Amino acid sequence: MVVMSDGSVPEASRARRLKMATHATHERLDTAIMARRPFANRERYALFLEVQHRFHRDVDPLYRSAALGALLPDLAQRRRLGLVEQDLCDLGIATDPSGATPTSTMDDQIDVPSALGWLYVAEGSNLGASFLLKQAAKLGLSETFGARHLAAAPDGRALHWRGFVAAFDAVPLSHLQEEGAIAGARAAFMRVQALVSELLALPAAASAQEVDG
Ligand code: HEM
Repeated sequence: MVVMSDGSVPEASRARRLKMATHATHERLDTAIMARRPFANRERYALFLEVQHRFHRDVDPLYRSAALGALLPDLAQRRRLGLVEQDLCDLGIATDPSGATPTSTMDDQIDVPSALGWLYVAEGSNLGASFLLKQAAKLGLSETFGARHLAAAPDGRALHWRGFVAAFDAVPLSHLQEEGAIAGARAAFMRVQALVSELLALPAAASAQEVDG
């Protein structure tokens, strides 16, 4: 814990608090994904892409929300659902367009603190994508074919993330709403974990115990 010379303890930023609150969940998810060998071949990568498709379809209404866009200026430009769908198309996998949620019915139903937690997870997941993109390259996939959604933003991963975090940390929230943001981030990780268990089937040799601990 950092103690300032005047004895005060600087308040950790919101993004740092969410990172601390979800670190163990992130590690478990990372382990569960890699144990399912999403980069063993293109068939398994396609299963991983389906996980990404379902998750980005879930969060897409948040990226298109006017209320959240007012709090996080370049939110709409950060959408990755279209890139995931192009990746599925590159691999010859049809996407079912009926799944998208219409915008009009969303804004008045969005719980902003929880939505901020979900967006923290969706945006943060692009940090680890640098490692995943290298793995995808071994399957002949790239930012222009099949792994577009793992690409860095034009301004670079770190700068793009810092831009998000700066606006994210600046949103005024009450103490209760801060708890809501943490709960939203945990719910988002749980959703991805559930999609991984449902869609990214275990490789034949591996046992459930061995993979999910
Ligand atoms: C095998 C898959 C994954 C690997 C190897 C991985 C790896 C990483 C790495 C290296 C970072 C940067 C950590 C840091 O700067 O301290 C990171 C950050 C993050 N990842 Fe993952 N990740 C994976 C999957 C995911 C998934 C599926 C999600 C959620 C959908 C996710 C959400 C996040 C978030 C929210 C952060 C930001 C943490 C922060 O700095 O506040 N990751 N990941």
